Amino acid sequence: MNIEEVKKGKDGLDVLADIYRYAKLGFKAITPEDEALFRWYGIYTQRPASEGFFMVRLRIPGGDLTPDQLRTIADLSIEHGRGLADITVRQNIQLHWVRVESLPDVLDRLRAVGLSTTEACGDCVRNIINCPVSGVDHDELYDTTPLIRQTNDFFVGNRDFSNLPRKFKIAITGCAVRCVYPEINDIGMFAVHDAERGGTAFRVRVGGGLSTTPRFSKDLGVLIDPQEAVELCGAIASVFREEGNRENRKRARLKFLVEQWEIPRFRDAVEARLGHNLRIAPEPEATPITERDRSHLGIHGQHQQGHYYVGLSILGGRTSGADLNRLADLSEEHGSGRIRTTNTQNVILLDIPERKLEALTSNLDRYGFEYQPSWSRKAIIACTGIQFCKLALAETKNRAAELNDSLESAVDIEVAPRISVTGCPNACG
Ligand code: HEM
Ligand code: SF4
Repeated sequence: MNIEEVKKGKDGLDVLADIYRYAKLGFKAITPEDEALFRWYGIYTQRPASEGFFMVRLRIPGGDLTPDQLRTIADLSIEHGRGLADITVRQNIQLHWVRVESLPDVLDRLRAVGLSTTEACGDCVRNIINCPVSGVDHDELYDTTPLIRQTNDFFVGNRDFSNLPRKFKIAITGCAVRCVYPEINDIGMFAVHDAERGGTAFRVRVGGGLSTTPRFSKDLGVLIDPQEAVELCGAIASVFREEGNRENRKRARLKFLVEQWEIPRFRDAVEARLGHNLRIAPEPEATPITERDRSHLGIHGQHQQGHYYVGLSILGGRTSGADLNRLADLSEEHGSGRIRTTNTQNVILLDIPERKLEALTSNLDRYGFEYQPSWSRKAIIACTGIQFCKLALAETKNRAAELNDSLESAVDIEVAPRISVTGCPNACG
């Protein structure tokens, strides 16, 4: 099947009504073309291939969740997903073992609490990553929380961007350690002090990505104001839509176009699309972050005095509906109820007043949550692997746990490297 041909015949966003229809007709009725387009709603077949189970990836912009939203995800995991939930490297939560008959209930209940799965997979703008402690972090340069919402609202469901040559990943952060990894996203924007004009500006990197041809993104060489960010993302995605490779999916990601054109030509094309020139940065590149802990795990004071955030390690992102329900309750009982997932597959509870810290940590101890994780717990992430992924060659989640057991007792490292346990060279985790 040629997915470009399928997309010409039907926009991925138009498969929603079919999902509800197939829920009545059953798995066997699903055409291969529609099954491919299910991805536009985060729905992807899983192993065992012949048995009609799906994984369902939510879209959680910036990993920002309320207790009610987390409880809904937890309940759906328990009712439709054998109680399993995986936190992903794009701050999403993924359910498994979902039957086509269950999809309407899953989608409706997510929608009822303001969540969705729209464009969580497919050739479109994937979940937009934010620093999980934006708005509370001591060292932060800029609170990008509203910007993430605006960027998400601009792209999701926007038919100008629902048929891109390939997936498109955006990360935006005001975090001092640039924890969103702008280096491996199609667009990575991060805040810097604006030495020329004062205040905060954003630097922009383009064309990063992993998989079999990994590339670090390249510096676009510009400085932008925060309010220019959404328009610039739109312009870059438009250049990708029109100029990206639709002949060969293995060469379709933005990284190949950026590499082929090089930055000056790419920037010209973006400026032409914007209709104005961008402000060229006086310095060629912001200093890369190499030796800082970028995980935000552990207990840290917030810039709101007397309040703390508590980052918990969820090894390999593998968790359960039962634990997600507990976390929802704990965040409400001891904090403001603001919960964030991280791009290292972990969870952070925000706004814990000092007087409630002790009660929270004793509850976390009771349920076995790690809030003072070892270096290796901070370092390890794991992709879906052979349990569910049809492309996998190896098991990953249990391996990640075993690796952690060996490493954390054997070695002591202050600032750890990032350790990815992946089941094939696609490097999804
Ligand atoms: C059934 C097959 C697959 C499964 C289960 C799977 C699973 C995942 C998951 C869970 C994530 C985190 C995504 C998120 O939260 O949005 C992810 C990201 C990613 N996927 Fe896959 N994936 C599959 C196929 C592929 C294929 C075919 C490729 C490449 C050709 C690929 C490349 C990637 C990359 C490079 C990332 C993440 C790194 C980044 O954030 O840039 N995946 N995938
Ligand atoms: S890295 Fe490979 S094995 Fe792991 S989820 Fe991605 S495609 Fe599957």
